[in-house]
Amino acid sequence: MKVGIVGTGMVGSATAYALGLRGVASEIVLVDLDPALAEAHALDIAHAMPFASATSIVHGDYDRLRDAGVVVIAAGVAQRPGETRTDLLGRNAAVFRTVVGEIIRFCPNAILLVASNPVDIMTQIAAIYSGLPTQRVIGSGTILDTARFRSLLGAHLRVSPRSIHAYVLGEHGDSQVLAWSGARAGTVPIALFGARVGAPITDAVRADIDSKTRNAAYTIIKGKGSTYYGIGAGLARIVGAIRQDEQAVLSVSSVTAVVAGVQDVALSIPRVVGREGITTELLPDLDAQERTALQRSASLLRGLFESVTV
Ligand code: 2OP
Repeated sequence: MKVGIVGTGMVGSATAYALGLRGVASEIVLVDLDPALAEAHALDIAHAMPFASATSIVHGDYDRLRDAGVVVIAAGVAQRPGETRTDLLGRNAAVFRTVVGEIIRFCPNAILLVASNPVDIMTQIAAIYSGLPTQRVIGSGTILDTARFRSLLGAHLRVSPRSIHAYVLGEHGDSQVLAWSGARAGTVPIALFGARVGAPITDAVRADIDSKTRNAAYTIIKGKGSTYYGIGAGLARIVGAIRQDEQAVLSVSSVTAVVAGVQDVALSIPRVVGREGITTELLPDLDAQERTALQRSASLLRGLFESVTV
């Protein structure tokens, strides 16, 4: 499968690198406003392929995206220290008008995978600009927050994060909802498991994991200016699920008819992802506090979307 990546800043290039290492795509096409940047990344990543996979990495203009099965959109500006993801909205909405139009001109049948922030709103905007069915416009959403949550829980419980079943829902941003009530290690509820292995999930542990998950991006941006390896790997995971028609359950963003009583809003819940994009939603059972938090997150996102002129 050919995969396009539009926007080859830190996130776009890290995604290409992760895709190449995983051998998920036969060809990766890098497109950027700055062709010299796209060319440099294509060359650098191509030089890693003899150690990794047979993926061919090229760069070019939008027409080179023809026949791509998935196009990752990582174009636009990223957060600077002190900014929230929603501060980027006006600037990135303007960028998307052109970018999505060009992608659709050359590959009207691709699945769009949106990474630019604020990713939930950008996913909703991409769905409108592309005219594609909403199941073919996927935002990376909370795939990364879910990974952060699982890795912190795994470290506390001394269980591989890959065997922790837990999700972050709602906004990929400050109002995200850590779904503690359904979290499991294997099949065992984490509170029970923690007590059993001498690593109780106390209020202080919960508060610490919540804060480290919610604020991870701020911590990283403060230290090195931006985040990219985590999201690059997350995007490669989503592309892999599409490519292999995996029907994998991933917490990704998509325009949702109704969630927590809010209509027509893009946010993350666990969804089944395969060759046709999203096929099913799997909203977990939530406790009253989580339901209220999800309703808040959904209302906030709907309000933000209404504040943009699309
Ligand atoms: C992240 O969460 C900044 O959205 C980016 O790493």
